Amino acid sequence: MSEEEHITGPSAKTRESLEQAAMQDEQMQEVHAQLMREKEEPSEGFSPVPIFLMFGFAALCFWGGVYLVKYSGGFQADAFSPYFRPGMDAPKAVEMTLFDRGARVYRNQCLQCHQADGLGVAGVWPPLAGSDWVTGHPQVISRILISGLSGPIVVKGNTYNGVMPAFGSIGVGLNDRDIAAVITYIRQEWGNTASEVSIETISEYSALYASRSNPWQAAALREDLGPDPSAGAPAAPAEEATPPEEATPAEEATPAEEAAPAEEAVVAQF
Ligand code: HEC
Repeated sequence: MSEEEHITGPSAKTRESLEQAAMQDEQMQEVHAQLMREKEEPSEGFSPVPIFLMFGFAALCFWGGVYLVKYSGGFQADAFSPYFRPGMDAPKAVEMTLFDRGARVYRNQCLQCHQADGLGVAGVWPPLAGSDWVTGHPQVISRILISGLSGPIVVKGNTYNGVMPAFGSIGVGLNDRDIAAVITYIRQEWGNTASEVSIETISEYSALYASRSNPWQAAALREDLGPDPSAGAPAAPAEEATPPEEATPAEEATPAEEAAPAEEAVVAQF
C-alpha cells in the first residue's frame, strides 16, 4: 500500500492541504513584496554626516568657548553667589584699627623676644615700653623694623648687643600695613603715647629701604632723618595726610641718603 501511494503521489486529502499551504505562501510573498517596495534597500557602510551639521557643530563649540571665557569668572569657586540679592548682601568690610591689627602682629612676631609686657628680657631682649627708639621719630623705628638692627644699642640706660631680624621685604616679609600696625601698637601700648604711623608713611620708608640688605647700627638710626610725618599732630589718626608728608619721599631720596647705608655696611654680619 505504501508503494502505491508513492507512485500516485499524495492522497487527495494531503494534496489539498499542500495546495492550501502554497497559496498561503503566495499571499505571504505578496505582503512581503509590498513591504519591500516601500522600504529602501539596505546597504552596508556609513553615510557621511551632512556638511552643514559639521559647520553648525563647530560654530556651537566656538560660541561655547567664547561664552565660558567671558562669563566663567576665571573659574573661581567664589565667583558666583547663589544667594546674591543686589544691594542686600554687599560685604561689610571689617574695619580693624591699626592698633588692634598691630596687637595681633606683635603677638605673632615680636612677643617671643620683647615679651607680652613689652619689657623684654634683661640683658638679652631690650624693652619696648618706655624706649625712646620706639616713641621717637617714626623713621627710626621704621628703619629698625624694615631692615633689622645689630650691634650695641643703649635702651633705657642698658646696653644690648644682639641681632634684631628684619621684618621688611628682605626679612620676614611683613607687608606695609602690618608694619605700620605693629609700629602703631608698640608706640601706644604699655603707657607709650606716641603718634600713630600710617600705612602710607611705611610705604614710603619701605620703598626707600627696599634695596638695603644690611641691618642698621644704632648710631646711624638717628642720622639723615626726613621730616616727621606726624609732627604737630601727636597721636593723630592716619587720615591726616598733610602736604609735608606728601613731600617727604622726594626729599629723602637724595643721593646723600642712598649713600649712607653703604658706609654702614662694613660692620654688618647678619
Ligand atoms: C629674635 C628676637 C626678636 C624679635 C622676634 C624681635 N626683636 Fe626687636 N630686638 C631684638 C634685639 C636683640 C634687639 C636689639 C638689637 C641690638 O642689640 O642691636 C631688638 C631691638 C628692637 C628695637 C630697638 C630697641 C628698643 O628696645 O627700643 C625695637 C623698637 C624693636 N626691637 C622692635 C621689635 C618689634 C616691633 C618686633 C616685632 C615685629 C621685634 N622687635 C621682634 C630682638 C627681637
